[in-house]
Amino acid sequence: MSDNLPNSTPRHVAIIMDGNGRWAKERRLPRQAGHNAGAKAVERTLKAAQKAGVEFLTLYAFSTENWIRPQDEIDGLMKLLEQTLDRYTKDAAKNNIRLWVSGEREPLPAGVLKKMDYAVTATAQNTGLTLNLALNYGARQEITHAVNALLAEGKTSVTPEDFQACLYHPDLPDPELIIRTSGEERLSNFLLWQAAYSEFYFTSVLWPDFTEEEFNKALDAYRTRTRRFGGI
Ligand code: IPE
Ligand code: IPE
Ligand code: MG
Repeated sequence: MSDNLPNSTPRHVAIIMDGNGRWAKERRLPRQAGHNAGAKAVERTLKAAQKAGVEFLTLYAFSTENWIRPQDEIDGLMKLLEQTLDRYTKDAAKNNIRLWVSGEREPLPAGVLKKMDYAVTATAQNTGLTLNLALNYGARQEITHAVNALLAEGKTSVTPEDFQACLYHPDLPDPELIIRTSGEERLSNFLLWQAAYSEFYFTSVLWPDFTEEEFNKALDAYRTRTRRFGGI
């Protein structure tokens, strides 16, 4: 790779969609209002990513740690998820989006699993953008899932390639760019293996305020980065 050529558009962008609660608090609204507004930002971002020619978009929707939130917030999020999956299944066929999900099934409610499985099957043949929804996702859980799969195969020694083959989606390329909104600058158990050489973009914009313009700003920032991968 030449070091004076700008990066092109990333193939895979991953986003930690954070700040829904604070967005609602600023408006003296219940936290759920922030999550509802966040779902609209997802729609805008999907359009922006398609327009920019991004192939894979991973969105962190619910972490394995988010179960410690109050039950009514969890219930609200699961309901929103079901509604959003329903809508996307229709729109996704029209927009040619393919849905993948990364995460553990347990203890997601049966209703969510049903809608999720249906959406994945219904969009499997779509050839446009792949939306990889990180749902009940934790990177340490993904890593231990891979280790357990390798142990079940009877492996006693593995290569990085063997390990990659046991991730939730072995064909998912590593994200060139990881965006986190709301001013927090941490991974929160997101894509620990895949982020080895990712570029990071942090913005103080709260997720419900995220727009196509913000997305393009992140892509522009990425294009200015010099990626060395250990070289000079
Ligand atoms: C992100 O927004 C959505 C989820 C984690 C489900 P938050 O709900 O974490 O919003 P803040 O961080 O409290 O503002
Ligand atoms: C990360 O956000 C998880 C998602 C965006 C789904 P959190 O709000 O849960 O992260 P922490 O707790 O601030 O690290
Ligand atoms: Mg948060």
